[in-house]
Amino acid sequence: MNILVINGPNLNLLGEREPEIYGTSTLEELMMWLETCPEAAGHKFKFYQSNHEGDIINTLHDERHWADGIIINPAAFSHYSYAIRDAISAVDIPTVEVHLSNIHHREAFRQISVISKVCINQIAGLGKGSYLEGLKILLEQITEG
Ligand code: DQA
Repeated sequence: MNILVINGPNLNLLGEREPEIYGTSTLEELMMWLETCPEAAGHKFKFYQSNHEGDIINTLHDERHWADGIIINPAAFSHYSYAIRDAISAVDIPTVEVHLSNIHHREAFRQISVISKVCINQIAGLGKGSYLEGLKILLEQITEG
């Protein structure tokens, strides 16, 4: 399977950004961990991070014929980007929304995701494990059809 992993704004600063919330691993370490976990064996990955809404939308469009599944941490865009929501809906590829932190136990504005309804699942609060859980769900969904 071809898996596209998209990370949104400020996630490029993982490791130094609020480590008490987001942990001490860098984004690169986290993505390498995901790509080398046993569950990932035999699958192809593309990793993309951007701080710009339009670039994330363009990536979803550009990779729509390559990707069999998408793992996306839209970061703060989760809470208000109808444009990213529409792009996920438009490309019609199974997508899991993931968050490192538990957005449901944080500020009120974080508890709303405008993305979740167009995703097959949302995983939040497991740290890097959110990405792994997202991958497992995606692979199950894709292989079951
Ligand atoms: C986040 C949670 C968001 O509310 C926040 O804006 C982020 C990261 C997470 O992974 O926990 O940037 O998506």
